[in-house]
Amino acid sequence: MFLTRRKSIDTLLDHAEHHQLKKTLSWPHLIALGVGAIVGTGIYTLIGVGAGLAGPAVILSFVIAGAVCACAALAYAEMSTMMPAAGSAYTYSYAVLGEGLAWIVGWSLILEYTVVCAAVAVGWSGHAAEFLPWLPKALLAGPWDPTNPGLINLPAVFISLVVTALLVIGTRESATVNIVLVMIKISALALFVALAAPAFNPDHFHPFMTRGFSGVEPDGTKIGVMAAASIMFFAFYGFDAVSTAAEETKNPGRNLTIGIVGSMLICTLIYMVVAGAAIGALAVPEFAAAAAPLVNVLKVLKHPLAGEIIAGAAVLALPTVIMAFMYGQSRIFFVMARDGLLPMGMAKVNAKTGTPVIMTVFTGVVAAVIAGAVPLADIAAVANAGTLCAFIAALICMMILRVRDPGRARTFRTPLWPVVGVAGIAGCLYLFTTLPDTAIKAFFIWNGVGVVAYLLYGMHQSRLAKAA
Ligand code: ALA
Repeated sequence: MFLTRRKSIDTLLDHAEHHQLKKTLSWPHLIALGVGAIVGTGIYTLIGVGAGLAGPAVILSFVIAGAVCACAALAYAEMSTMMPAAGSAYTYSYAVLGEGLAWIVGWSLILEYTVVCAAVAVGWSGHAAEFLPWLPKALLAGPWDPTNPGLINLPAVFISLVVTALLVIGTRESATVNIVLVMIKISALALFVALAAPAFNPDHFHPFMTRGFSGVEPDGTKIGVMAAASIMFFAFYGFDAVSTAAEETKNPGRNLTIGIVGSMLICTLIYMVVAGAAIGALAVPEFAAAAAPLVNVLKVLKHPLAGEIIAGAAVLALPTVIMAFMYGQSRIFFVMARDGLLPMGMAKVNAKTGTPVIMTVFTGVVAAVIAGAVPLADIAAVANAGTLCAFIAALICMMILRVRDPGRARTFRTPLWPVVGVAGIAGCLYLFTTLPDTAIKAFFIWNGVGVVAYLLYGMHQSRLAKAA
């Protein structure tokens, strides 16, 4: 049956042995790739949206989103060290759940990765605008921006295309540049905490849960701690981008585990501290209203120069997030095409750079088009829907394999796997239901298109179909 045909894990490992991508990455590259992908628009920009939805209890939203992501991170660490093949949750699903569900997961990952690139490009544009006072307002927002509609978000298009070019040049150079930029990004957040902490006022946390735990306003807007968690979830993911680099990792058993779990823990810690310092320094209504919340806190605290430094750091470093997701996206495409589910011509690897150039350029151009037209909050919510689908798949795969194939060697074992698995899946499902309705609709429409594409192409062209 085509929907349930599965790739054997041994074949996957064999493919990875005879892979076409160069093995160049070690764990410092992977931690940098992880932190580079995780810390970005979520903490620099969306934190204001989250505070608006939940009040000071957005701290609780961070804890909930972080806990759900930690469960998923453990499943990813276990799965990616068992199957070091590029393709992340799509690859795991192909081996465990069968081709039909794997296609849906892969198709959702395409949505996630491309849309995240676009979201972060829009966040970048907001900070870059601080330094481009001469640029007409019509070139700083797309036509669907609810507050200040324009013609096109030109800086967002520009940065999407620049990152595409960097990736086309080659993995190694990009990963090294990435390490330097990650340091800039983390130093800027450290500067923010150092300047905001002396102004900490515990009164800003009373009352705490000003907008309830989970509710709906008369106009249908979802509010409260859970609604904020479903948006702030955006700030936490990115560690899965590390697992898509599995085929290019030296000693993947050790290096991937350190890369995925390590980058997740480091970022969770950073967010708790930054959110606590920001809300402690500035009461939520004032904090939430700002377009660049962290920069605004420092301006109110009379540190305008430091505010500019934070904006500058965001301009320099947010492209690392786009880079990590675009990198992950081109690898997902690569593996799906290699499996015959997408046209093979698209998977061609450039002999000189070892990168799938056509795929990378395709992803970059689509991300640029979305970034040029659609506002940030909408793009981020859609990206979250695709990501939650992939996380659920990774958790289900981890649990099924523990039962179906308990004897297989595991370099990393999820502790208390039944608890982590069930809690992670339940958490992802709950977060999905608290996303804005438009994002949920977009997710199902995208997957409807995906099912048609599969029935017309992948079902017949799949390598497993031809081997049968
Ligand atoms: N976690 C990434 C960010 O916040 C996607 O930008």
